[in-house]
Amino acid sequence: MTTNTEIQALDVPTAILQRRSIKTFKPDAIAPELLKQLIELTVAAPSSFNVQSWRIIVVQDQAQREALCAASWNQKQIKEAPVTFVFAADASAGEKDLTPILEQGAATGAWNEGTVNYFRNAIPKFQVSLGEKRREYAIKDAMIASTNLVLAAESLGLSTCFMNGWIEDQVKAVIGAENDPELAIAVLVPVGYAAEPRLNPGRLPLSTNVFVDKINTSYQG
Ligand SMILES: Cc1cc2nc3c(=O)[nH]c(=O)nc-3n(C[C@H](O)[C@H](O)[C@H](O)COP(=O)(O)O)c2cc1C
Repeated sequence: MTTNTEIQALDVPTAILQRRSIKTFKPDAIAPELLKQLIELTVAAPSSFNVQSWRIIVVQDQAQREALCAASWNQKQIKEAPVTFVFAADASAGEKDLTPILEQGAATGAWNEGTVNYFRNAIPKFQVSLGEKRREYAIKDAMIASTNLVLAAESLGLSTCFMNGWIEDQVKAVIGAENDPELAIAVLVPVGYAAEPRLNPGRLPLSTNVFVDKINTSYQG
């Protein structure tokens, strides 16, 4: 893991509460070592069977950023931020060669031989059983990784904005994946230094959407 000694990282609860969706970014670049640290913290996320089906495209090139912005209803934070992470997900990842994942699990000592043998069969079987939900399951992994990115960025002095406002076919064309039907776009996350702060638009009272044991018993705190 790359370390960044210049930044005093915020603790997780502070980063969670301080994070806002930022809509305007300064043109300031992200230092390469800081960007690498962010990428490493992003892929430290968990994933189903550790398949890591996310495909993360780190868009930095000016023309690429402009094309992504155009594919995102011209939302300017994508053009302004020095880096936009495109979180894609390979819906067929669990059917591909799992050897590197299984070997790493064994080499680290995290998975014993029984686990490795079980996973070798269980992962492709589970994948097939998902049917039409393969895409949805892959997107879950990508969304969790994107949450790691957003919180890590906040903790390390950067700002972000989760973004769903884009046209999938156009985003796929920008990243060169127009001919891959198994690749789904999960979310776009511009990252950079905020040009303007944003206020917290607030959250509903816990009793509105948190429940105890069953959906008809509101959580009262
Ligand atoms: C999945 C997701 C998609 C979003 N898409 C967009 C978007 O396309 N454009 C945008 O400006 N904000 C987008 N937002 C930001 C939300 O509007 C924002 O999270 C919400 O208003 C709460 O504000 P906060 O993030 O500052 O707490 C998105 C947020 C999430 C979680």
